[in-house]
Amino acid sequence: MEAIKMTGIVKCFGRVRANDGIDFTVNEQEIHCLLGENGTGKSTLMNILFGLYHQDEGEIFIHGKKAAISNPNDAYELGIGMVHQHFMLVNQLTVLENIIMGKEPGGLFLNKKKCEEQVSGLVEKFGFKINLQEKVENLSVGMRQRVEILKTLYRGADIVILDEPTAVLTPQEVDELFKILRQLKKDGKTIVFITHKLNETMALSDRITVLRKGKVVCRCNTSETDEKELAAKMVGRSVETVITKKGQIRGGVVMELKNVRLLKKAQETVSLTVHAGEILGIAGVDGNGQQELEALIIGNKKMKEGSLLINGTEARKMSVKERKKLGIGYIPSDRHKNAMIADFSIAENFLLGYQDKPQYNSHGFINYANLRKDAQEQADRFETKLAGLDQPIGQLSGGNQQKIILGRETSHDPSFMLVAQPVRGLDIGAIEKVHRTLLELKEQGKAILLISAELSDIMNLSDRIAVLYEGRVSALFENGEYTKEEIGLFMTGKSAGGKNS
Ligand SMILES: Nc1ncnc2c1ncn2[C@@H]1O[C@H](COP(=O)(O)OP(=O)(O)OP(=O)(O)O)[C@@H](O)[C@H]1O
Ligand SMILES: [Mg+2]
Repeated sequence: MEAIKMTGIVKCFGRVRANDGIDFTVNEQEIHCLLGENGTGKSTLMNILFGLYHQDEGEIFIHGKKAAISNPNDAYELGIGMVHQHFMLVNQLTVLENIIMGKEPGGLFLNKKKCEEQVSGLVEKFGFKINLQEKVENLSVGMRQRVEILKTLYRGADIVILDEPTAVLTPQEVDELFKILRQLKKDGKTIVFITHKLNETMALSDRITVLRKGKVVCRCNTSETDEKELAAKMVGRSVETVITKKGQIRGGVVMELKNVRLLKKAQETVSLTVHAGEILGIAGVDGNGQQELEALIIGNKKMKEGSLLINGTEARKMSVKERKKLGIGYIPSDRHKNAMIADFSIAENFLLGYQDKPQYNSHGFINYANLRKDAQEQADRFETKLAGLDQPIGQLSGGNQQKIILGRETSHDPSFMLVAQPVRGLDIGAIEKVHRTLLELKEQGKAILLISAELSDIMNLSDRIAVLYEGRVSALFENGEYTKEEIGLFMTGKSAGGKNS
């Protein structure tokens, strides 16, 4: 029988038809991947199923019975749980407290023992590796996600929806997650999995539904398709892997970082240079100093020792604003925090950080004509999907937000680009666009520091690769000198046969 059957689902936000007559079915005890470009209606469809939105048209059947789902409580009554991309946990509480919160039989403290037994039972049954007494604030992203999954199971979900669960996970954490999901399936549960990663889709799912512009364009068994076909279905054209050209001319040093300590526990300081016309890739498992490197270079964290030269100017004591004036373009890993204001319009966001530019500022007044012209030009350049420049940027899908930021940060002719996790949450068409843009910038002679948890980004785009491990550079490779496995070894702290530095 079908665990989920959604028929003729329509959902509009103003003029946007986010779901445009979607029929979606998932069989019981199946892992089903929901694919599609950014802004194509995947989250909307699942939010409807979980009772966060209500459909304008269409019907939902759960295990064959017609269902009216007006809020997440209704969804849980029907055995539907959802793990969102932005976790909703209370940091100061323990794992156990977070799991049982809101569903304590007769008060949190009275029956804590009983609840704990129940949760421990789930932990064991499904092979979660987690300490129930640990405070959530001390957990890695992957661990937090396990708490969210446990929460749905504790509430009795037999249908578990995961919205892009792997976007923020390390490769090891992805493996662990997949083990858990397969175990859940074995136990009879039904999984809906939203992702942009086709290799994950192929490895994990039984069946696939592809959405495009709010409509279903493909339903198939995973065994009867491949990555190439799925990519073409998603984007409506074939997608290419963009690869850096070797042997390009490298110019002088643009960014030089000397003797900087990334992590307190680090045994060594870090020194890096990026030349004009090259991409230096920073590989590494998240949490090995990438965030600190990013924050120290842009100035969100104080540099206590060492030095930072941008085009020969010492920038160590400068503010973020002053550093950017030296010619830094910045794509942050956390765009919500460091690159945009969700409630502000797209046009206003395009001004962010560039208020003083003469073309946007005439005698203290904003020159809206110039601002809108440039914002529109950049939005078009990246084929950004938007209702208009006055739309709040927070309403755009993640990929489209990233395109606006990319447009803004590259339009002021930076000489150095600090680019962190640029494709996180982006669809394959958008990733290709971002990759092409980075290579174009490099060809124009810009110096680029690319920090990415995606090893394929690093390997395809970089001229040189530095591997970060526990806050130090564990290896530095020239393009072509390494294999994926070698880099992988340095990422986990084991040294390989490659050149060490
Ligand atoms: N609360 C909202 N208000 C206005 N528009 C919205 C809202 N939620 C979604 N939309 C719009 O609906 C469309 C579908 O968005 P949705 O978030 O479902 O896409 P998605 O397929 O999940 O994309 P992504 O892969 O980027 O997460 C987009 O155009 C988006 O801008
Ligand atoms: Mg989404």
